[in-house]
Amino acid sequence: MSVRRLAEENVQPAAFAFSKDNAAWAKATIKKYPKGREQSAVIPLLMRAQEQDGWVTKAAIESVADMLAMPYIRVLEVATFYTQFQLKPVGTRAHVQVCGTTPCMLRGSEDLINLCKKRIHPNPLTPNEAGTLSWEEVECQGTCVNAPMVMIFKDTYEDLTVPQLEYIIDRFDAGKGADVKPGPQIDRIFSAPVGGPTTLLAPEKKPAAPRAKKVNDDAAVSVPPSNAGRAKTAAPETDPTLKTPVTAKAESAANDKVAGDTKAEGGKVAKPETAAATPAALVGKPADTAKPSLEDKNRPAGIAKPATPDDLKLISGVGPKIEGILHELGIFTFAQVAGWKKAEREWVDGYLNFKGRIERDDWVKQAKALAKGGEAEYIKVFGKKPR
Ligand code: FES
Repeated sequence: MSVRRLAEENVQPAAFAFSKDNAAWAKATIKKYPKGREQSAVIPLLMRAQEQDGWVTKAAIESVADMLAMPYIRVLEVATFYTQFQLKPVGTRAHVQVCGTTPCMLRGSEDLINLCKKRIHPNPLTPNEAGTLSWEEVECQGTCVNAPMVMIFKDTYEDLTVPQLEYIIDRFDAGKGADVKPGPQIDRIFSAPVGGPTTLLAPEKKPAAPRAKKVNDDAAVSVPPSNAGRAKTAAPETDPTLKTPVTAKAESAANDKVAGDTKAEGGKVAKPETAAATPAALVGKPADTAKPSLEDKNRPAGIAKPATPDDLKLISGVGPKIEGILHELGIFTFAQVAGWKKAEREWVDGYLNFKGRIERDDWVKQAKALAKGGEAEYIKVFGKKPR
């Protein structure tokens, strides 16, 4: 960790005062703490002073200490300890803090530092000629899983490559830093595995089968209630290998029955089997309540497979398997996904057992961008390439 000292006297302003609004905010913030514990407001007050003036001046440190009845040295200790506080003037549009701790170093932070030296200034904590950008190396910022990373003001930008960081710096330098989405810059949710979850996955989806026309109740009653009850306990849906012989036999019979009673609908888009006809329901196991009915009015309309379907895998959150399921539902184009209403998104989310991921990944926004202008439009909207 670098030595952190206050800026030279010749750049220190003579005095510090919070603006009227900030003074009122500071007063309210101090009041949040119990009597005798007002010193706990030291970090928020220093942060507000930095947001107001761009950096933490010696006068600001003394002013905050007076407000909290603290010795100056105590506030100085706090301000000089945390790298979130800038002790000298930094870039007005971006101060890039590059993590140089081991995980980030092993994943390429040295290259990011070299880029900062080239693009901003050879020396850390020294603003570029226009005064808009500066950089420094800092210790671990707590997003090691997504190394390497940088922090710019309050946001982190993770899973970086040199071109990606260059793009981010350019956006900030152009005053358009808000265009860049903070967090991972690759296809991952927070610090989840790259490419999607690898554990605690939903049970394997069954392949599409023709729609069941009629279900014979015989199969359902072929399992005595007592056995059916045991089946619920002994054969959880996630582990079919634990089925009892009775339930396995019943399931086989049910499958046979369903297979005999089903018929493909000629000319229409193939639809997977109905929930009511799933063997699981017939053998006394609880039906998969998370999976909505294919007959539900909120199921998005499908289309026949076009000659050149869109590559739905460009949507973050859609892999080959999910794309296959979407195709089974008759979803082949970005325009279809872009047009989904809330109820339809919820239906698909439930069908895929995604637990809200469609909203979290904003499939509709992604699909709109891809439908409008392909990858170029996606990069314009999201500041990164689609997966
Ligand atoms: S090592 Fe870089 S964020 Fe932890």
